[in-house]
Amino acid sequence: MNKLIINGGIPLSGTIRASGSKNAVLPILAGTLLADGPVIVRNVPHLHDVTTTMELLGRMGVQITIGEKMSIEVDATHLKNTFAPYELVKTMRASILVLGPLLARHGTAEVSLPGGCAIGARPVNLHLMGLEAMGADIRVEEGYIRATAKRLKGARIVMDQVSVTGTENLMMAASLAKGTSVIENAAREPEVTDLANFINAMGGKIKGIGTDTLRIEGVENLTGCDYRVLPDRIETGTYLVAAAITGGKVLVKDTDPRLLDAVLAKLEEAGAIIDIGDDWIELDMEGRKPRSVNIRTAPYPAFPTDMQAQFCALNAVASGTGSVTETVFENRFMHIQEIVRLGANIQLEGNTAIIKGVANLNGAPVMATDLRASASLILAGLVAKGETIVERIYHIDRGYDHIEEKLACLGARIRRTTD
Ligand code: EPZ
Repeated sequence: MNKLIINGGIPLSGTIRASGSKNAVLPILAGTLLADGPVIVRNVPHLHDVTTTMELLGRMGVQITIGEKMSIEVDATHLKNTFAPYELVKTMRASILVLGPLLARHGTAEVSLPGGCAIGARPVNLHLMGLEAMGADIRVEEGYIRATAKRLKGARIVMDQVSVTGTENLMMAASLAKGTSVIENAAREPEVTDLANFINAMGGKIKGIGTDTLRIEGVENLTGCDYRVLPDRIETGTYLVAAAITGGKVLVKDTDPRLLDAVLAKLEEAGAIIDIGDDWIELDMEGRKPRSVNIRTAPYPAFPTDMQAQFCALNAVASGTGSVTETVFENRFMHIQEIVRLGANIQLEGNTAIIKGVANLNGAPVMATDLRASASLILAGLVAKGETIVERIYHIDRGYDHIEEKLACLGARIRRTTD
């Protein structure tokens, strides 16, 4: 079982580049199913979830060619089947994103219900409700979603709650439906915007991009295109926290500071000096301890739930007491007990963690439970005295591209073992 071994206490310093966004490339790769010609996707991050998606598409008969410099060509002109098996979907819930495109372009799809995961039940009722509103016949049986539609038709869909992949699935389905659809209470995450821009690059007609009301005029067909995925704002934020928690100075390039307003504001509140350019962000902590900050997660543009665990680690060694409230997922504090094993002083009260900063953490073996929890354990290990061993790091490999290499570039003492 792979582990990461970290010897903490080194202030990180140096420059790294952000990879393409996991949560943008996954819907965009699913979106290639909409095109009747080859699509080139650029700035593809090297992640296990990307490999899983390519395997899923490949099994459907999609032609995939790895290009140079993190690009891939995807040609979904001819499919062998429209089936997404449980064995793949259970490893990556985002596989549900093939449902909308398959239904829109082929009129049929059989996709395994994604199970829950460590952070919550994560139902897909909003995805199915929206597709039914567009005229799909949806049956859920034997753990599979079996959907058919002669031709989806435009509909007005009001999302009961903000759902990122729910909005993405329905936006993709609507792009080839007959007539116009309106999605109210749509998610506004930058990754939703990136997908909308990708669909329009294929000839789609989506308006209201970046707002909570998307207007999608269905077209007869979508063509191939050449598209560059936006930078990963959560990866960027994670490395900025790594600089802040170790009192270091790090520049992240090939990123976009406009995607991180809420996170940068909290890092400045924690005492970091932040400088930004068009495609770079520099954080300087000048060797100081961070100040405690209060966090409340919510849909974009509020503070992202995917940065919540990282800020729990930051607050654990800050001066003062900070509260972290999670409002998006019902069970996203699995990292707390592990950070407590390193000596943190954290009380959980419902969906709020009260974190009293301690003078220092001490290394210990800890166990990753989900992607962002893994990141928070690594961040804690970077500042803890002594050796921290993070187990079950297959979670981290799903969403962070070459994490130990990037951290080692910044001076961290970190290595992977396979014993
Ligand atoms: C996306 O998940 C991201 N994943 C998550 O990132 C992210 O945490 C989440 O959005 C919130 O920003 C990808 O984009 C691949 P939601 P998603 O639908 O779309 C409830 C990471 O670490 N809900 O916005 O699955 C749901 O239970 C991952 O990179 C329903 O009730 O999240 C949750 O409480 C983790 N019914 C809330 O809505 C539905 O049909 C928001 O979930 C759909 C969602």
